[in-house]
Amino acid sequence: MSSLFLQSEVKNPYTIYQKMIKENPVYWDETNKIWAIYSYEFCVEILKNPDAQIPAFPPNEKLNEYVLKIIANLARLSDGVQHMVAKETATILFSHMKTSGIQLLLEKLFQKNSVLNQINWVDSICKKLPVLTVLKSFDFDEEDCLFIIENIAVFLKIMQPVKTDEEVEMLNDISKKIYLITEKHIRKLSFYESLLDKISSSYTISKEAVVSICVSNLIGLIIQSYDAGRGLLSNSLLQFFLKENPLQNQIDKTWIEKMVIETLRFDPPIHNTRRVAVANIELNGITIKKDDLILVVLAAANRDPDHFGNSIIFDVKRENNNEHLTFGAGGHMCLAKYFSVQLATEALYYLFTHYKVSLLGNEAEYEPMINARLPKAIWISIL
Ligand code: HEM
Repeated sequence: MSSLFLQSEVKNPYTIYQKMIKENPVYWDETNKIWAIYSYEFCVEILKNPDAQIPAFPPNEKLNEYVLKIIANLARLSDGVQHMVAKETATILFSHMKTSGIQLLLEKLFQKNSVLNQINWVDSICKKLPVLTVLKSFDFDEEDCLFIIENIAVFLKIMQPVKTDEEVEMLNDISKKIYLITEKHIRKLSFYESLLDKISSSYTISKEAVVSICVSNLIGLIIQSYDAGRGLLSNSLLQFFLKENPLQNQIDKTWIEKMVIETLRFDPPIHNTRRVAVANIELNGITIKKDDLILVVLAAANRDPDHFGNSIIFDVKRENNNEHLTFGAGGHMCLAKYFSVQLATEALYYLFTHYKVSLLGNEAEYEPMINARLPKAIWISIL
């Protein structure tokens, strides 16, 4: 069985995960030469194991200095001391994120995008709101927001280890522009000088190098928010329509928040992440050899019956729903666990308190991606 498949081609990946947890929680996929880890316990063990690191991208001489700087500096892609520096920088930047502007952003997005009281939730809201929330938190102006929103889908190819020549050409151009835009805005932030001083003195790194770490990791927040944020907003809305809202006409924010958290466990936007073994790793009586690749199937761990009672049932009342692995675990765990839940809760609350909403169309189709399960479009009527 291949552990790697396009989410667009599999109707229900969860039945595969259930079977693998039971029969092969640590599975050698001979076709793809990768270990796939399915159970909750072993996924956590790999994510917390310092010998399981982020796989390096193969060198590509055609990438320009801006793409290379971003890739080299991102917390998401680094390990060891470099990761410590990048993560501290990203964490300080992240602490300045604000969700207070979400209402206003939603108002504008709905005004612009609803034609005949119908809206494609994915294109109009999900692909824009998370990124705009990051950009507005750091005072990016309208013109620069527009450029980034228009180019973010292509720019995300920066996270693909292998890039075609055509992708490299587009990436070089967009990355230079996004890098320079971000540098211009970061210099104006009130905490910028103190951030530079802190990182350069804590780790004895030149100011010039720290500038590049700061710019890259602010870009990292934009990158990380796009696919995952889009998927959470989409999948939460779909779950809302699938499950009965117990409150009928009255919309309760606490209930929406619980539903968003259970969606993160039950139907997460991100399904897996990858590691490489930098030393032999023992797991379930099996040796994962140094240099072997590892696929950590977070979405399978979320359905592990040993960790979540009645794991195949969507249940907002289950006590440990919040222990899902959708944001990862260990050193590389996502910074935005609470932020993302708040963003999705606010967005759904806004939608249901401002409109009478119904779902149009049939079952969702998914993007042809291996690591993320993202609906292509969700049409809704808003009256
Ligand atoms: C539903 C929304 C989100 C999900 C499901 C998600 C998921 C994840 C996961 C699984 C990782 C760890 C990857 C790994 O260990 O290989 C991660 C890392 C990260 N996420 Fe998120 N994320 C979300 C939203 C965001 C947002 C909105 C931001 C920032 C604004 C963000 C910033 C980051 C950063 C900076 C890292 C890298 C941390 C590190 O490597 O030290 N994420 N995210």
